[in-house]
Amino acid sequence: MANIFPLVCSFLFVSSLSSLCSALRVDYYHHTCPHVEEAVTTAVKRAMAADRTVPAALLRMHFHDCFVRGCDGSVLLDSTKKNKAEKEGPANLSLHAFYVIDNAKKAVEEMCPGVVSCADILALAARDVVALSGGPSWEVPKGRKDGRVSEATETIQLPAPTFNFSQLQQSFSQRDLSTVDLVALSGTPTCSATPSGHTLGFSHCSSFQNRIHNFDAKHDVDPSLHPAFAASLRRVCPAHNKVRNAGATMDNTATVFDNAYYKLLLEGKSLFSSDQALLSHPKAKQLVSEFACNEKEFFEAFARSMIKMGSIPGNGQEVRLNCRVVR
Ligand code: HEM
Ligand SMILES: *[C@@H]1O[C@H](CO)[C@@H](O)[C@H](O)[C@H]1NC(C)=O
Ligand SMILES: *[C@@H]1O[C@H](CO)[C@@H](O)[C@H](O)[C@H]1NC(C)=O
Repeated sequence: MANIFPLVCSFLFVSSLSSLCSALRVDYYHHTCPHVEEAVTTAVKRAMAADRTVPAALLRMHFHDCFVRGCDGSVLLDSTKKNKAEKEGPANLSLHAFYVIDNAKKAVEEMCPGVVSCADILALAARDVVALSGGPSWEVPKGRKDGRVSEATETIQLPAPTFNFSQLQQSFSQRDLSTVDLVALSGTPTCSATPSGHTLGFSHCSSFQNRIHNFDAKHDVDPSLHPAFAASLRRVCPAHNKVRNAGATMDNTATVFDNAYYKLLLEGKSLFSSDQALLSHPKAKQLVSEFACNEKEFFEAFARSMIKMGSIPGNGQEVRLNCRVVR
């Protein structure tokens, strides 16, 4: 029984119904690698104990993986002599902690060699960092395959922090993600973190520079920003800022995953134009208010949307042995 699934799938491939086989399953490794989840969780916990930037890094890595070529581990590939990989593309700011996936992969390979894809390990790690940070948990559907292509130029397909609502909505709907998914996933506290939020994310000045200097013809500062909050951002990020890694650090608390983002957004204390943009659309604004008042509702929506984002189909065909190189 154990391996009938791939068999049926190759049969379906022949009859060109292979799309049916892209369906992911929670019990995908039940027979082939029953302890994969524990191994990943152990590696993630160990890394989190040593480096508190790990949760934000792994969650963002999974998002970048899924939004470029589907969830196929393409974000994990290293550049080669002939090819510049996604890691070197624009918007790679703050992508790091790839070593955690390497360590998890090593542990998994020792248990069940050549069975578990890197894309699945990343999806599991993203769930783990959220759950271990006080956020919701969920069962991760698995069975992704690793891709063989990673192009630096393709990271421009990621949504930008300067996007307005229609651009955000388009970016999400192209990947079959709804307005609810957009609002729920934007609340990733570590992403759109604000200095007063309970988070540990980090954003470089360049990601919100457009709001605090030269905003438009009439305003130097985005008028929708809370004035004191804008002033604090301008202190950290002056117009001609020379400090290479300056940015809004959210280092006031431990890794806490909560719904503070929505409350702060309603007060004009969000970092990105793309955050503020959520208030420009009636349905999205309604959702922001709901999530601000009801953390349980946010957690449930977030978990559902993470499963949907994690199911964006890729074109992967293999299980890598080393997540940084194709087989
Ligand atoms: C809605 C569209 C989104 C935009 C425009 C966006 C944009 C950004 C930007 C500009 C940064 C700061 C990068 C830097 O300056 O270093 C960031 C950080 C981050 N984003 Fe997003 N993001 C979006 C959606 C998401 C989603 C869907 C997730 C995960 C589910 C996510 C997770 C994160 C995390 C965890 C960080 C912090 C990274 C760190 O501290 O290492 N973002 N995002
Ligand atoms: C991001 O891209 C820059 C420029 O190509 C590169 O120097 C840097 O190493 C990249 N960051 C990561 C994490 O790969
Ligand atoms: C959003 O931005 C796009 C691209 O800059 C622009 O064409 C569009 O008119 C904007 N939409 C709204 C509603 O502002």
